[in-house]
Amino acid sequence: MKPSILVTRAIFPDVIDRLSQYFDVDANQDDVVLDAAALRARLAGKAGVLANAADQIDGSLVSALPQLRAVCNMAVGYNNLDIPALTAAGIVATNTPDVLTETTADFGWALLMATARRVTESEHYLRAGKWQRWSYDMLVGVDVYGSTLGILGMGRIGQALARRAAGFGMQVLYHNRSQLPADVEKSLNARYVSKAELLEQSDHLILVLPYSAQSHHAIGAAELAQMKPTATLINLARGGIVDDAALASALRDRQIFAAGLDVFEGEPHVHPDLLTVPNVVLTPHIASASEKTRRAMANLAADNLIAALDLGPQAGRPPAVINPDVMAHRR
Ligand code: GLV
Repeated sequence: MKPSILVTRAIFPDVIDRLSQYFDVDANQDDVVLDAAALRARLAGKAGVLANAADQIDGSLVSALPQLRAVCNMAVGYNNLDIPALTAAGIVATNTPDVLTETTADFGWALLMATARRVTESEHYLRAGKWQRWSYDMLVGVDVYGSTLGILGMGRIGQALARRAAGFGMQVLYHNRSQLPADVEKSLNARYVSKAELLEQSDHLILVLPYSAQSHHAIGAAELAQMKPTATLINLARGGIVDDAALASALRDRQIFAAGLDVFEGEPHVHPDLLTVPNVVLTPHIASASEKTRRAMANLAADNLIAALDLGPQAGRPPAVINPDVMAHRR
């Protein structure tokens, strides 16, 4: 008998077909959002789950699911998973790094450009029929070329952003839990600074750090007050890293020039004050959303699940394990 798995949200049908070669698949292809109770009910008796970054898999859920052996996120971020609880229970957790790095960095660049040069605000202005004549100060923005880029969180995506900055003649500053090796810094032309220096010196600050209790509200009122009034802030990482209420006030009071946000606290809910300020570009968590990359993410999540449940060509060796310590004492 094939092991049973759940795919919590709709994904590419051919990936479901591939999973079906190995598993009895409960596929939510109607894409109904499963609340905590529905997720718990659908996971009963399942050996594995291909999850979405919005599915909260916490300690109490894990302890109610004695048959669960693998939790495979279709996302690089995994703050929705309680990794210590999964590890303690002997459950393998996986994510989808690398395949989305360049697409996500491209989108970070798109948000940065749109924010600095007021692209969406300009389009709204035009569509509203407000463009009657040229004027020297109409919708003027701030420059990207030749400015200072600050990157908070210098992992794969941060480094991909730094590489793009070279083409824009930018000085790159970064802050991270640990400093990169000197040769990597040199190849990226990036300089390690304290968080305070990063806030004070960046013309454009991009957030690409993982969300955790430590990074909750890493950017709040105090940090926004340290930024230049001409600066932009881009959040490409996770909602909750920025205090959205404090950001809305800072934007309204022109404490910083503008912001570009792809992620929000409590998304898909968006703080109502952010919807009323003009100097913010808002997108619905789409940084990795190219057809090619979403397909690569789904296939990597499937590869992880097949291998984590000891099937397929990589049986027992899932390509992107978050908690490798678990491999010695798996369920
Ligand atoms: C998207 O936010 C991801 O973590 O992949």
